Amino acid sequence: MIEKFTSNAQAIEAADKYLYGNHVRVPLVMDRGEGCYVYDLDGDKYLDFVGGIAVNGLGHCHPAIVKALEERAETILHCSNYYYNEPAIQTAKLLVENSCFDKVIFANSGAEANEAQIKLARKYAVDHGHPERYVVISMIQSFHGRTLATATATGQEIVHNPKWFSPLPEGFRYAEFNNLESVKEQMGDDVCAILTEPIQGEGGVHPATKEFLQGLRDLCDEKGILLMYDEVQVGSGRTGKLFAYQNYGVEPDCCSLAKALGSGVPIGAVCAKGDAAKTLTPGTHGSTFAGGPLACALAEATLDEMINNGVIDHAAEAGEYFRAQLSKLQEKYPTAIKEVRGMGMINAIELTMADGHPVVDKCFEQKVLINCTAGNVLRFIPPLIAGKEEIDQVIQALDQSFAQLGC
Ligand SMILES: Cc1ncc(COP(=O)(O)O)c(C=O)c1O
Repeated sequence: MIEKFTSNAQAIEAADKYLYGNHVRVPLVMDRGEGCYVYDLDGDKYLDFVGGIAVNGLGHCHPAIVKALEERAETILHCSNYYYNEPAIQTAKLLVENSCFDKVIFANSGAEANEAQIKLARKYAVDHGHPERYVVISMIQSFHGRTLATATATGQEIVHNPKWFSPLPEGFRYAEFNNLESVKEQMGDDVCAILTEPIQGEGGVHPATKEFLQGLRDLCDEKGILLMYDEVQVGSGRTGKLFAYQNYGVEPDCCSLAKALGSGVPIGAVCAKGDAAKTLTPGTHGSTFAGGPLACALAEATLDEMINNGVIDHAAEAGEYFRAQLSKLQEKYPTAIKEVRGMGMINAIELTMADGHPVVDKCFEQKVLINCTAGNVLRFIPPLIAGKEEIDQVIQALDQSFAQLGC
């Protein structure tokens, strides 16, 4: 019989003993969640504006997800990709019917979805008579995952530090985000694809400009290479559209999704169109778990709720209200807040101070969970269902935090 932990302190003591120390964690043991709130083992309640790093799009324990999970537990959790399963087909249908894409291939995480995109781009080049093309140009300050290839595609040396992880995979070069000339400088006969996030999430919530994405599209068309988006963080309704690219009207050849797609179960996907949707033929790519009925049933329920029950539209409206409130806060603390930016329900304030963690800590004291990325960018990626009440609560916590820090 396993003796359950009854307090944060007790659980954290055991965690220090048994869990590998590759994460720096906040001293909070998540016990359960409900909507936009979570409860720890001490019974304290927190407003969750981290949302599992943009995973809990529908919040915690959403009835549609609970129902899908219960149904799944009583039918079939896993079958191999030797066979079809209905949730995978329905999920792919929802993604295709609500986008520019023709086909969907599943994965188990964001990194795996991006690995699939990289493989797809290289094989696409070979299939089109260009085996010399294998380089993927990605952006400085991007984030694409932590496998060897996706860490190398990530334009941040801390993620693929060659001192630790050499030899890194070949075939990656970096250009400046939102700088088309910089991309052109990296272009060559060896390039098979350009990979970018439409909004850099980990890099500090930087939206691409429409001109930049259009410039990439034109460049890829001119060269006959693929434009690939990474929408792992900003897809699945986050920006107030199902796909972030739909805010720009600039379509990629393929696009990765993960995070909020499964409302908390691991899932990733690559959506592809045209010839890019025909490249990964039998024997070229696959995975035991990818596209399984459990993860896909939750993705199907998530997409159904988001698309057909107004969650995405709500995210667009709530995001506007949120940014308006953040801008008011900037007027109140002009020396502390350098910029407010975002789209839909991915929003941020860039601070003038070099480190944002004191603000995160002050919010934590007020039982509000927020996150800091890129050193001094406070990032807000709450459940898409968060409304005025929750937004006002986070604004109040920020206000108090800035005041307490003497900003
Ligand atoms: C844009 C982007 N791509 C890829 C990843 C990697 O996803 P995962 O952690 O599911 O492998 C992340 C994770 O934060 C991300 O934000």
